[in-house]
Amino acid sequence: MGEKAMGPLFLFLTVLFFVGSQSCPEVCRCVAKKKYGRHIADCSYKELREVPLGLPSNATTLTLSVNHITVLRGDSFEDLFDLQALWLSYNEISNIAKGSFAFLVQLRAIDLSHNRITDFPWGDLSNLTALQQLKLSSNLLEKVPADAFHTLKDLRSLWLSDNRLTVLSEGTFDSMPRLSLLQINHNPWNCSCKIWWLKTWLENTSVSIPEKESITCAAPERRKGLIFGRSLSMDCMRPSVQVVYHSHLGRGILHGGLSVLLHCTAMGTPPPEIRWKIQTSSQNVAISGANVEEGGNSLADTTSKHSKRVPFLVFKNGSMVISEFNKADEGIYTCQAQNDAGSQEDSVSISLASSESLADQPQKNIQDSKPQNKSCYPKSEEKIVVIYLSPVLPKTSSSGATGHELWPWAALLVSFLLALSC
Ligand SMILES: *[C@@H]1O[C@H](CO)[C@@H](O)[C@H](O)[C@H]1NC(C)=O
Ligand SMILES: *[C@@H]1O[C@H](CO)[C@@H](O)[C@H](O)[C@H]1NC(C)=O
Ligand SMILES: *[C@@H]1O[C@H](CO)[C@@H](O)[C@H](O)[C@H]1NC(C)=O
Ligand SMILES: *[C@@H]1O[C@H](CO)[C@@H](O)[C@H](O)[C@H]1NC(C)=O
Ligand SMILES: *[C@@H]1O[C@H](CO)[C@@H](O)[C@H](O)[C@H]1NC(C)=O
Ligand SMILES: *[C@@H]1O[C@H](CO)[C@@H](O)[C@H](O)[C@H]1NC(C)=O
Repeated sequence: MGEKAMGPLFLFLTVLFFVGSQSCPEVCRCVAKKKYGRHIADCSYKELREVPLGLPSNATTLTLSVNHITVLRGDSFEDLFDLQALWLSYNEISNIAKGSFAFLVQLRAIDLSHNRITDFPWGDLSNLTALQQLKLSSNLLEKVPADAFHTLKDLRSLWLSDNRLTVLSEGTFDSMPRLSLLQINHNPWNCSCKIWWLKTWLENTSVSIPEKESITCAAPERRKGLIFGRSLSMDCMRPSVQVVYHSHLGRGILHGGLSVLLHCTAMGTPPPEIRWKIQTSSQNVAISGANVEEGGNSLADTTSKHSKRVPFLVFKNGSMVISEFNKADEGIYTCQAQNDAGSQEDSVSISLASSESLADQPQKNIQDSKPQNKSCYPKSEEKIVVIYLSPVLPKTSSSGATGHELWPWAALLVSFLLALSC
């Protein structure tokens, strides 16, 4: 028998032996390393323009590096459930369909460096909980969502260097307890207060950050070229905010009913913007900026979508007046202060109780409707205001005419409770 016949036969038998009924694309080389339980499909350096079809479905490593692949389709890696390593560096990938990686739940390492990726299917990462290495360096990424890495509890190394990132949201790297290597150098960082957190984080983290001297500012103009280290001075201060309840309201602005005055004091650099959030049992209202002039005239339409009356008057000085405060206005009043360096909020819960019903526990209701503790930093105590009303029947009026504008507010009692902080 000639060598010529033996070759293909041997190859056929080998493939049969190692791959079983599994296929292997002609251009690739599929090898099984039984001892390690690894099945490698190597299709690198093949001038490929697409991910080849017919990849062995139990491949654990797929190498497609150094080709001309431009697109990854949603089904490019379909059925490769066992894949643990996916090498795609040095291609021309610019387009990755959502879901391309979503079912690669065993994936531990993925290398997409040296491509042309502008938009990564970040949502896919939420399925890749086994991922330990994510290499996205040398691409054209401009943004990384704040929660992109939130499920990657096992991630150890993350390459984002050589991209077009200008800013990252605070906490982007917080959910990766095992992270030990992070590359973010060679990006055109915008050194505004939005990224101030990163500067302090870098100073303090135990994660290894190579090429720190190449983490530099590209903007603003006055910081261009400066290195992100200790010497970079940035005048930034997170907002601090406090809501205070004022029991008395000067006459003149409003007439009739009980008017509640809250004042929100916010500080920070740059000066924070204030936003009120009102959460009652029947509505959620958000008001950004003032909606009345100092004199009390309504400025623009209220941002409240649900209510017709304008019960929440927000002044430029940070005060808010709730006119004709009644049962329906009971709820949580939150002032949120935000600037580029961060955001903080402070709340006060306000409820009404009549003196006859001192025994009902309005606090209980309030605690039940406590807002969700999305952001517990920095901790703040919960303030609860309970306004106890003592209706005194007007002498001249029959009991039928106890419209609330006639009620003298004999007793206003304020209680501040220290509730559990976050
Ligand atoms: C694929 O899995 C089957 C069944 O576990 C196995 O017999 C076969 O050898 C595997 N393929 C490769 C490439 O090893
Ligand atoms: C990815 O995760 C989502 C939510 O956890 C799940 O609904 C979806 O089926 C997963 N996708 C795949 C392809 O496994
Ligand atoms: C940098 O960030 C600041 C603050 O967010 C923004 O106003 C400015 O336009 C940004 N500059 C560039 C060049 O992106
Ligand atoms: C650095 O970490 C220490 C301990 O975790 C902390 O006390 C300190 O405030 C941190 N410094 C900065 C600049 O974040
Ligand atoms: C803010 O302005 C309103 C309307 O002029 C006024 O009633 C209120 O007392 C002011 N608040 C403070 C804290 O000065
Ligand atoms: C609120 O904080 C507690 C304690 O940190 C946490 O267990 C809980 O899940 C948080 N609730 C929400 C809605 O985030």
